Amino acid sequence: MVVAFALVLAVVAPLVGAVPLTGRQIPGLTTTTSVQGIPAFPAINTGLLCQLPMLKPICSRIASVSNKQVNTPIGTAQGVSDGSGVTRFAVRYASAARWSTSTIATKWELPNGATNASALPLACPQPNVDSSAYTEDCLSMVLYVPTTLKANSGVPTLVWIHGGSFIAGSATGPGLDGSKLAVATNSIVAVMQYRLGALGFMAPNGATNLAVKDTINALTFLGKVVPSFGGDAKKITLSGQSAGAGMIRALLAAPSASSLFQSSIMQSDPINYGFLNVSTQNSLQSTFNTLTGCTASNTACQKSLSVAAILNAQVVLSSKAQSIDPSTGVGEPIRPVRDGSLITTALDLTSGSSFPSQSKPLLLTNVKNEAGPTIFGMFTSSLPNTLTSTVCDGSLGPDRTSIVSASPFYDFTVADIRTPLETLGSDYMWRCPTWSLARQWTQHGGKAYVGQFVVGATYPSNNDVAFCVDGAICHEDDIYIVFGTTPSPTAAQTALTTEIQARYKAFLTTGAPNAPGLSPWPLATTSSVHPHQLGGAPTPSGEVPVGACDPAFWGQAVGYDYQVYGI
Ligand SMILES: *[C@@H]1O[C@H](CO)[C@@H](O)[C@H](O)[C@H]1NC(C)=O
Ligand SMILES: *[C@@H]1O[C@H](CO)[C@@H](O)[C@H](O)[C@H]1NC(C)=O
Repeated sequence: MVVAFALVLAVVAPLVGAVPLTGRQIPGLTTTTSVQGIPAFPAINTGLLCQLPMLKPICSRIASVSNKQVNTPIGTAQGVSDGSGVTRFAVRYASAARWSTSTIATKWELPNGATNASALPLACPQPNVDSSAYTEDCLSMVLYVPTTLKANSGVPTLVWIHGGSFIAGSATGPGLDGSKLAVATNSIVAVMQYRLGALGFMAPNGATNLAVKDTINALTFLGKVVPSFGGDAKKITLSGQSAGAGMIRALLAAPSASSLFQSSIMQSDPINYGFLNVSTQNSLQSTFNTLTGCTASNTACQKSLSVAAILNAQVVLSSKAQSIDPSTGVGEPIRPVRDGSLITTALDLTSGSSFPSQSKPLLLTNVKNEAGPTIFGMFTSSLPNTLTSTVCDGSLGPDRTSIVSASPFYDFTVADIRTPLETLGSDYMWRCPTWSLARQWTQHGGKAYVGQFVVGATYPSNNDVAFCVDGAICHEDDIYIVFGTTPSPTAAQTALTTEIQARYKAFLTTGAPNAPGLSPWPLATTSSVHPHQLGGAPTPSGEVPVGACDPAFWGQAVGYDYQVYGI
């Protein structure tokens, strides 16, 4: 009995929280990996080593690093260029006192008071990272600008919003060097940061969505400065992965952000959770205030807290969130809240007739095995089918479990149920709610293109999950592909990078991911989302199987969390 009970506890978490939760699954950020994504600009002592034939190409690239300047309305931007086809400009776009709304920078400054244009931003404070890698002064971004661009060339800007469950990640995570993506799309790529965790979402005085407002400030800042670099302020497209895509969904639900961007690319958004509602946010907030020992009005107390104390309180809050209110889920309990002032709609199936009319194009993608890191990371050996109802009950509750088990979509008669569990987790948390959003979007006047990666490149966070390394396309395995930063890519990876970058280029300029030489990617309709397969041998229809994402199943016969909890 003791063993079974322990297993239930172990099992409940992954399916319910089938989203990056542990440090292992979050885009790695440590002092040593914080600039891992930016291999092109290292400080290396060139000298005798450069006489070695194998190092000569690298040395000549380093030797050619040069400083560039661009005049903007708020001062001179300093950047560095290394012969890779872009100039990189790091900048502080806003500043904020702790738990206050951020204000946009009025003069051009390097991040964190740096004086060297090569400097990269420190991350925002987050658990499990050395404190030397972060600072509260973290509202920075990195611009990658093709060197061929001249001012007012009118090119688009692609803004990348990193993932990490709203508690981790940065603009300098693995593979996030935007150089190749900028060159391939002939656009400005801006990789931005926003406040994370309690510092971004748990202001003790009850101010909501500070991190979402940071993102809005980043977009406003870009609108002011991109023309100086060759961009068109009216052609800003958002892109992001996981919680980064969730941040985009929050912006789509914020009428005040609407004029700041033209279109959005959302990769692997765990839409199942929905936004928090106000009463849930208030419950979390009051627990957080208690944990910090500061009352809502005691700003002196709040200011005196160390960052470490705030992060400790945040970690405790996250661990308690589900017992405080089950609608938080496990994977990202701290997240944007539908506060009625900034975020005014749920933007999901619960809002029914109140789903607002839409006009912006969306590109919505998933990877084939979103839940791979969760299921196979947690269960490293076979999971017998005698545990099926225990596992599913603990995650979905008995009502949803009985529907799921009786359905033709998940075969729990197999000896090792990790495979059907992985499919179930991917469908429930990511894939099917994304398709439900695509249908709603389409029904209300918007355009949506739905895709699924069946080729990927193992992201460092998945390196210790055999299932992911051995061929599955796991959560985050689309990041290197999109950025073109796969280390030692295979032919299939290179081909998919070329294709997806061409599709992004088309989407940035026309609002559709179609261009001559590419297979047609049809629009989603209210009856079929036409899920386009990205990579792999072409299927006759070019589409991936619908499976349980049939509109009659997930979202109707069996509800998403946001439906079950009515948030
Ligand atoms: C700026 O930083 C780069 C890389 O760390 C280094 O190579 C360069 O010498 C620095 N420049 C100055 C002026 O300090
Ligand atoms: C907020 O969500 C909770 C579920 O956690 C639900 O019980 C409550 O009715 C919701 N409140 C509002 C105002 O929608």
